[in-house]
Amino acid sequence: MSLKWTKKDLLSLQDLSKEEIELILETAQSFKEVSTRAIKKVPALRGKTVVNLFFEPSTRTRNSFEVAEKRLSADMMNVAIQQSSVKKGESLIDTAKNVEALKVDIVVVRHSASGSPNLLARNLKASVINAGDGSHEHPTQGLLDLYTILEKKGKIKGLNVVIVGDVAHSRVARSNIWGLTKLGANVTIVGPQTLIPSQVEELGVSISNNLEEAIEKADVIEMLRLQKERQEDNLFPTIREYGMLFGLTQEKLNKAKPDVLVMHPGPINRGIEMTSEVADGKNSVILEQVTNGIAVRMAVLYLVSGAQVLENDEQKSAVK
Ligand code: CP
Repeated sequence: MSLKWTKKDLLSLQDLSKEEIELILETAQSFKEVSTRAIKKVPALRGKTVVNLFFEPSTRTRNSFEVAEKRLSADMMNVAIQQSSVKKGESLIDTAKNVEALKVDIVVVRHSASGSPNLLARNLKASVINAGDGSHEHPTQGLLDLYTILEKKGKIKGLNVVIVGDVAHSRVARSNIWGLTKLGANVTIVGPQTLIPSQVEELGVSISNNLEEAIEKADVIEMLRLQKERQEDNLFPTIREYGMLFGLTQEKLNKAKPDVLVMHPGPINRGIEMTSEVADGKNSVILEQVTNGIAVRMAVLYLVSGAQVLENDEQKSAVK
């Protein structure tokens, strides 16, 4: 691993080069083993303080960051937004600057407004990690999806990846499209016309409105959550019709390759995006995505903290 990480923040996969993405995935690989130990802890971030600022609900991402921070021996705290002075009208920047005044090194932020992490990154000396901003990007989800595909398939270049559903409102889709295309996958997006962003082909993807046709040659099927909280009304006739056309059933999956991977970032709307038979079936790697999120987030925290500026051998010692 010769490349050195030079960025203060992790804001998007659009910002990263192929080599920077590969560096994160390689670093995650060296951290993955830590979670299999009897004592799941390394000293890599000892003495560093990380704050998790989640302005939107989260189960997977917040808990995954918390576990990753603890496994790296960082001092960490979660700001309880509902009990904070945000409820008295304090602005995002004031909240973050007051948190930074506690001498924190890294701020992990999730916010419903696209661009919030970029705003904080420009205003804070601390490193900022985007944990999902509006419908813009969710870079650590994109990275853990790449990691899971690489782990299962041994490569990403040349794979056919089909991303299905509410692409228009999905930060996960955007991060995946940037990451997958940079690493050489062939990406097809499938969904109702109203949920496909205009000019998305400029990102190097193909578009299909027929799920059954699109998954025939797929190596990976990434199902997206229907983001009801970000949609205006009437983008498709009924949920039932959406499920019939774009939901993944075992019957449809039987027409795909036997070793196709079924992925979903969660939370799943069972019976809409996919049946329980598919979500819990043999092709599903959904819970492995969650497990891999820990190693990927350990890698991102480690790299933005500046710890990797050490030589390779010393980097290896970080996982001892
Ligand atoms: N994948 C994901 O972002 O899930 P949470 O909203 O539960 O964090």
